Amino acid sequence: MADSPISHHSGEQVDVPADPNASPEQRAQMEQAYQQMQRKLRITKMDEDIKHKIMVLSGKGGVGKSTVATGLALSLARKGMSVGLMDIDITGPNIPKMLGIEESDLNVEEGQIFPAIGPHGVKVISMAFLLEDPDKPVIWRGPIKLGAIQQFIGDVAWGELDALIIDFPPGTSDEPLTVSQNLPGIDGVVIVTTPQEVALLDSRKSISFAKTLSVPVLGVVENMSGYKIRGTASPGDEVTVIGPGGVPISASTDDDGTWSMTLDVFKSGGGAHAAEDLGVPFLGSLPFDPGIVRGGDDGVHRIVAEPEGDTALAFDGIVENVLETLGEGSGSSVRIT
Ligand SMILES: Nc1ncnc2c1ncn2[C@@H]1O[C@H](COP(=O)(O)OP(=O)(O)O)[C@@H](O)[C@H]1O
Ligand SMILES: [Mg+2]
Repeated sequence: MADSPISHHSGEQVDVPADPNASPEQRAQMEQAYQQMQRKLRITKMDEDIKHKIMVLSGKGGVGKSTVATGLALSLARKGMSVGLMDIDITGPNIPKMLGIEESDLNVEEGQIFPAIGPHGVKVISMAFLLEDPDKPVIWRGPIKLGAIQQFIGDVAWGELDALIIDFPPGTSDEPLTVSQNLPGIDGVVIVTTPQEVALLDSRKSISFAKTLSVPVLGVVENMSGYKIRGTASPGDEVTVIGPGGVPISASTDDDGTWSMTLDVFKSGGGAHAAEDLGVPFLGSLPFDPGIVRGGDDGVHRIVAEPEGDTALAFDGIVENVLETLGEGSGSSVRIT
């Protein structure tokens, strides 16, 4: 068994019948086998208890994977679903901070870890809760990392959930592989990308990675899409601004004198093109929203701060498409084999 970074309460007495002839080593082995068996049973139960398990991946870091993972979780939860969020980024866990719950502690009772509770009742598990100083990078040896992930999967008391969202470190690392090998019944992968043309390349990489994991691709989300600006002018006026790349963009004012337009800061449409080219569903785009950065810093998520804002509504649209791809609507997922 892999080393364990999370020590259980001593209350967890493994009740292996005493054998007077067993050596201490044999007894330790029996206890270990018993614990493994218990974990296997819990994982089997977890597969039944958690309806949908969704991994969030991207080809590279900084594209907003954790932002999308938390947004999906909150958007599902505010629809009334019971949702869990598993932060597998054990070297740089930032989900608790994004949700304003980094001061929470995980409770361990009878060998089971109880998740912290975020906004809208989202159950969160993250290594950030267990590190003395989550800002200090930790270098995990392979087997310890494996052990931590296995504990996150097998020893967490999630209870019954409609959906479990799993966030990963950047890139195609071994964490998604460990999860896909240890967690049965994964519905699929949501791929996060940016609007630039390189998005196609990155998404292609993520899709072939999903293929090596033998999990379906639920679709592509384009993050940091256009930036919306608004203003007022005389009703009926046309307003022109010089957009990115020096290209003029015009908008007409409404009857009340307001206008709005979307600036494609990083171009746009890369995600939709990538999805089309790669034959997977396009789940939608999220606007470039400085409020997301603020929310990440002050711990009030955009969906909580502005429940009816453009970003919150964009997440709701993406969630609708994810549910449809999962067969909760009329669509069906694309299985890559
Ligand atoms: N749509 C967006 N608009 C503005 N900033 C964003 C958006 N999405 C993510 N960010 C910011 O980009 C940075 C990286 O996002 P994060 O979700 O941590 O990426 P990843 O998990 O892929 O490394 C964060 O500072 C986050 O606040
Ligand atoms: Mg991240």
